[in-house]
Amino acid sequence: MLVSATEMLKKAKAGHYAVGQFNINNLEWTKAILQTAQELNSPVILGVSEGAGKYMCGYKTVVGMVNGMMEELNITVPVALHLDHGSYDHCYKCLEAGFSSIMFDGSHYPIDENVAKTTELVKAAHDKGVSIEAEVGSIGGEEDGVVGMGECADPKECKAIADLGVDFLAAGIGNIHGKYPANWQGLSFETLDAIQQLTGDLPLVLHGGTGIPADMIKKAISLGVAKINVNTECQLSFAAATRKYIEEGKDNQGKGYDPRKLLAPGFEAIKATVKEKMELFGSVGKA
Ligand code: 13P
Repeated sequence: MLVSATEMLKKAKAGHYAVGQFNINNLEWTKAILQTAQELNSPVILGVSEGAGKYMCGYKTVVGMVNGMMEELNITVPVALHLDHGSYDHCYKCLEAGFSSIMFDGSHYPIDENVAKTTELVKAAHDKGVSIEAEVGSIGGEEDGVVGMGECADPKECKAIADLGVDFLAAGIGNIHGKYPANWQGLSFETLDAIQQLTGDLPLVLHGGTGIPADMIKKAISLGVAKINVNTECQLSFAAATRKYIEEGKDNQGKGYDPRKLLAPGFEAIKATVKEKMELFGSVGKA
């Protein structure tokens, strides 16, 4: 059964480790992440962006696939199914479809509007036992070929949003989605420290987990980060393994074109990436 992410992240913050949110794109992704979490006895959060939700034929399809897979694969570790960067409308769609966690990304609204919408969604989520993440300070990334540098959130705004009752909070600390550019300045630990001092026990979320060096990840965890989102890195490992299979001509050998064979190296590559991250984040054995 899916669980909200609240308890697993409270435990992670208190225990000084982080739970990975790994974004899913299809059946192979979901199976690879769930199996790895079970093998390593780790809690896990499956992230679904609005685009990935649409690609997988809608949120109800995703809920059906994840619930079915958990039962058939005997997954017993805590698993949360989480909407990633949800708009106001899609938060409601996911609450209705049976997600156990949502993120309302109101970071692009003026702070007053972010507060009003977050307040309403906190109530709607908690009425259903669903956890909710909010965001302050937009997280940069590539859009139309231009890489935006990550903003640093205002710690006072973080405190204002934290006080609305959200279960965990994403705050921009110079992190961005996708690959980091060569001239990236690194994470702002000064900002993170100031945010944690004002928000206390609230688990903090680090987006853009791909490509952040291990020492920065560890330092972020020591300053209150309890959830780390990873998406691009699984895509890169899947693509590299699939490319190798095809470049070696394996799809032309025997029944190598069978998707169950063709997608197997990419599947194993996702598993290896998830394992590496769970070990780095310290969530192994914490289910
Ligand atoms: P990356 O794609 O950079 O790993 O970021 C993932 C993320 O933050 C999803 O919200």
